[in-house]
Amino acid sequence: MTISIKNSEDIAKMRIACRLAGEVLDYITPFVKVGITTDELDKLCHDYMVNVQNCIPAPLNYAPHGHAPYPKSICSSINHQVCHGVPGDKKLKNGDIVNLDITTIKDGYHGDTSRMFYVGEPSIQAKRLCEAAYESMWRGIRTVKQGSTLGDIGHAIQGYVESLGYSVVREFCGHGIGKKFHEEPQVLHYGKPKSGIRLEAGMIFTIEPMVNAGKAGIKQLGDGWTIVTKDHSLSAQWEHTILVTETGHEVLTMSADAPPPPDV
Ligand code: MF3
Ligand code: CO
Ligand code: CO
Repeated sequence: MTISIKNSEDIAKMRIACRLAGEVLDYITPFVKVGITTDELDKLCHDYMVNVQNCIPAPLNYAPHGHAPYPKSICSSINHQVCHGVPGDKKLKNGDIVNLDITTIKDGYHGDTSRMFYVGEPSIQAKRLCEAAYESMWRGIRTVKQGSTLGDIGHAIQGYVESLGYSVVREFCGHGIGKKFHEEPQVLHYGKPKSGIRLEAGMIFTIEPMVNAGKAGIKQLGDGWTIVTKDHSLSAQWEHTILVTETGHEVLTMSADAPPPPDV
């Protein structure tokens, strides 16, 4: 297993790609309203990335081993959809929660980030789930520094999520990122403290916990991409791309309108 350590030029370029990904989410936020379709959100994001940011939407035609090429430029996962939801012509309705996941390629480097959005007024349960997933991501992020481990990240996330009676999806994880969309290491959202690989300054990876209101089980839909909860319970996810530094970490996908980190 080889985890790349980014040099200062890599890091400078990753800062740009990652900020752009966050700025796509800032851009799309006012459009996420009752009545818009996820196809329309996909087209707006696609055009913004290509025409305004001069970058490439990484999901479009992305074809990891065993998958048909992904047909759209963003992922949009609604309610019980866990991740990799393929945009379509269904209108968002009042009370939906939706994750929009954006990956840009700028100057050969990838930036990957996602947020949850409320459509109209969601239920208290839906809001609590989204907030829990957000807090869990940040609890994972806050463990990151040179010398801590991947297990420390997973443990922080899992401990918090399960203390609330929610569950962590096991089949999908965070990932190293750079010139490639998905690099080593795999960043599991569950684990044991002080286990797994020791983090080193210059590593860059995502943290992107998927949190289910019910059981952890998932299944893939017939489109070959969209992942849903097996028990049809709601699911929420947030994602940032993180640089490990000597003293801690830098959240590369922060942007002007990114929600602030939760209070400690
Ligand atoms: N952005 C997703 C992630 O966080 C991956 C999407 S792959 C796609 O890793 F092909 F579905 F776009
Ligand atoms: Co990712
Ligand atoms: Co992503």
